[in-house]
Amino acid sequence: MELVLATRNRHKVSEIRAILQGLSLTIRTLDDFPTVPEVVEDGATCRENAIKKARVIARETGKLALADDTGLEVEALGGRPGVYSARFAGEHATFSDNRLKLLQELKGISGLKRKALFRCIIVLASPTLVLAAEEGVLSGRIAVQERGQKGFGYDSILLLPGRRRTLAEMTPEEKNRISHRARALAKIKRHLKRLVSKDPSQQRGVAQLG
Ligand code: IMP
Repeated sequence: MELVLATRNRHKVSEIRAILQGLSLTIRTLDDFPTVPEVVEDGATCRENAIKKARVIARETGKLALADDTGLEVEALGGRPGVYSARFAGEHATFSDNRLKLLQELKGISGLKRKALFRCIIVLASPTLVLAAEEGVLSGRIAVQERGQKGFGYDSILLLPGRRRTLAEMTPEEKNRISHRARALAKIKRHLKRLVSKDPSQQRGVAQLG
């Protein structure tokens, strides 16, 4: 069975591949389907965006598709940037631009008030149905300055409680054990296992969401 990952972010692709290894799935990415159009992420929530991406990519490729959408919610900013995390510093902002804007907005805000969390929604769709939507959360605190070189996005400014390290100071294996994406994906993996199973009675267990 083939599964298309609805992303061009190579960091996400390698995280997802690592977590799904062991399932008898052939994993494709959008690089394998160069004519598939870019999906505009114009939903009001990460869930809406993930559902839209999974639906469109499954329909356009004719295969099972998996889409994820993540938002960083910062308590002192009333949950911002949330669904706007990729464009926090503007439409064509780089990861670095977004991190610097966040550090700037939190200047003077100390310790406990820098609480933040990543919320990841992962959606699995067939060409005709949304099969599952699952959420994973990772809580931490926004660091005062960037630390670490690994990962991507906001990794170098999310400090994890008890670990005194940012996500960017962890190995990919460590990040994949605890991350918001790993947590959502662990739940999706159960749906995928049922789908790849040859037992038709197990396939009936997959819920139809819309
Ligand atoms: P996306 O819509 O899922 O690509 O996520 C929106 C933004 O959240 C991205 O542009 C990244 O800046 C950030 N992001 C998503 N996942 C992660 C992660 O695992 N670590 C750090 N930042 C992330």
